[in-house]
Amino acid sequence: MDVPKFTRKGERPEEMYEDPKVYFENLKPTTGMKNVQRKLTRELLSLMEIKGEKFIDLGCGYGFSSEVLKELGYEVVGIDLSEKMVEYTRKRGVFAVQGDFCELKRYFGEGEFDNGISISSLQWISKDAKKLEKFAEGASYIINYALGIHFYPKDDRELRSVLGVMKKYFERVELYIIARGTKKERIYILNYR
Ligand SMILES: C[S@@+](CC[C@H](N)C(=O)[O-])C[C@H]1O[C@@H](n2cnc3c(N)ncnc32)[C@H](O)[C@@H]1O
Repeated sequence: MDVPKFTRKGERPEEMYEDPKVYFENLKPTTGMKNVQRKLTRELLSLMEIKGEKFIDLGCGYGFSSEVLKELGYEVVGIDLSEKMVEYTRKRGVFAVQGDFCELKRYFGEGEFDNGISISSLQWISKDAKKLEKFAEGASYIINYALGIHFYPKDDRELRSVLGVMKKYFERVELYIIARGTKKERIYILNYR
């Protein structure tokens, strides 16, 4: 798998705030954020092989990604660390629970979902090897087929470490880097059981 060298410059929220709740609960959702999340979700889904109807949205945030799935006719459940974000998602008519996506086995059963997505959330834990391992293990336990991830790794090392962990728990792992090296770069990891 070809992983180019890169390092993101500048301070990023996930490096400035230990707890994502502190950052997100003080951030008002904007139309710009909604449009970006919707675009990323649609792009991820266009790359993903999907089997079945039931999705989990890991780090559902404001519910923009969940809403896209709902509009496409899928059944969606969201999970987010922040109760306030869970409320945002519920307002979009999506069932959501408050919880840590590194503890998925605590909330959901084996194979409860056909597929999963996680859009712009994994960078909050991807530098922590233990949390990453728990995320991947739990996701592979509750998801039957595919998990599509979009995230913002700090550098190629962090990206490689996520790929390595996902490969331990999923049979097939694919990396897509779109608009590589530009400001609009998007990184997707598709994981299949
Ligand atoms: C950028 S937002 C996701 C936006 C979402 N895709 C949407 O469409 O609104 C990232 C979310 O990840 C959540 N998050 C970060 N770490 C988490 C964890 N360990 N467990 C669950 N959610 C987490 C944050 O609380 C935040 O709501």
